[in-house]
Amino acid sequence: MSLSYIAKNIQASPTLALNEKAQILREKGEPVINFSVGEPKSRAPIDAILAAVQNLNTGEVRYVPPDGIPALKKAIIRYTEEFYNRKVAPENVIASSGAKQAIMVALQAILNPQEEVIYPAPYWVSYPEMAKLCGAIGVPVYPEDGSFYPRIQDIEQRVGSYTKAIIINSPNNPSGAMYSEEFIADIVDFCERRDLYLIMDDIYHRLIFDGRKPINCWEYAKKKDENSKLIIINGVSKQYAMTGFRIGWAVANKKIIEAMTNIQGHQTGGPSVVLQLAAVGALNGIQSSVENLRVTLENNRNVMCSLLKTIDGVKFSVPDGTFYLFADFSAYEKSSHKLSQMLIDKVMVLTVPGVEFGMEGYIRLSFAGTMKEIQEGIERIKWAIDPNAPNELYIGDRKLVRDWA
Ligand SMILES: Cc1ncc(COP(=O)(O)O)c(C=O)c1O
Repeated sequence: MSLSYIAKNIQASPTLALNEKAQILREKGEPVINFSVGEPKSRAPIDAILAAVQNLNTGEVRYVPPDGIPALKKAIIRYTEEFYNRKVAPENVIASSGAKQAIMVALQAILNPQEEVIYPAPYWVSYPEMAKLCGAIGVPVYPEDGSFYPRIQDIEQRVGSYTKAIIINSPNNPSGAMYSEEFIADIVDFCERRDLYLIMDDIYHRLIFDGRKPINCWEYAKKKDENSKLIIINGVSKQYAMTGFRIGWAVANKKIIEAMTNIQGHQTGGPSVVLQLAAVGALNGIQSSVENLRVTLENNRNVMCSLLKTIDGVKFSVPDGTFYLFADFSAYEKSSHKLSQMLIDKVMVLTVPGVEFGMEGYIRLSFAGTMKEIQEGIERIKWAIDPNAPNELYIGDRKLVRDWA
């Protein structure tokens, strides 16, 4: 079949594919533990549900402006004041179908074919594919010291005449690393000096642990006018457990937002009004669910870390935020795909191979599930990879027998 060059070069999202796989196994009644999930387990806030239902009850669900309804823009403006200490106008804001679409449309608004967008590794799986969708080139930067914390020198070295933009995602999916305040200050300054766009993917910025506070990139901007090339991305998916509502946003200078609006207007015409109203409900409603989620995740992280420590040879750094832990299993298996496959086949634990995030030998483990899943999942992984493990493991009343070395 004759497909486009872009279509032939785009990979399916590995995380979405894994979720489908988990669903199929569950429907068959298999006792799957899904460590590949990229979403919290908790329910969406009641204010979000009520706002959506109220709108649906009118029976009149219509087209709305492609850049977002005024009520949502107002809520995003308030959010931007609270977390970024930045006063913006409605023309500085666009609401999209998830932070994913906000990033995609931003890249389409700024990248020409063959231009480069840089991001630190490990990186979110969608960045390279989004660059390809623009005909552009994604350039991962590997911190020279082998850590998950990039240094400004690492980035500087990769910037060339084709570099147009840098994407920073902190705390980071998949490593959970929250970059230092100093690094954020340096990268904002660097991008201003080199006249580069800086996309701050802050989707996990409130899901942080050990008393950390969200870092405000805007505080370090010297260009605080309409010449700023800083694009701030956020959304309700993770912090409000509203992944299925598909509402995210971007805050940037008016020219960028106008270009993004033109593109989005032809792509989707903007997110559904029902879902935008749900996001308004979440942003303006009772906020306790965010802190409850954060505390649950911190607790889950602690348990996952203490259990993983009992597996010899597995190396990891303790996540500062998000709900992901990125562990180095190369002492057991160098191919992350082989390891992930083995964990599904032998003990029905779903993980995401690290190579999808640009780092071979690692796997991503999500701790967004229940405590029981975390305990049982790590126990199963330990059993599967430890050659000295007992010959048998019970999953409920099902007996697994070790028939591999
Ligand atoms: C780093 C990062 N950015 C953006 C997104 C997209 O979030 P949304 O559900 O709002 O599209 C995700 C979702 O997994 C993510 O991990």
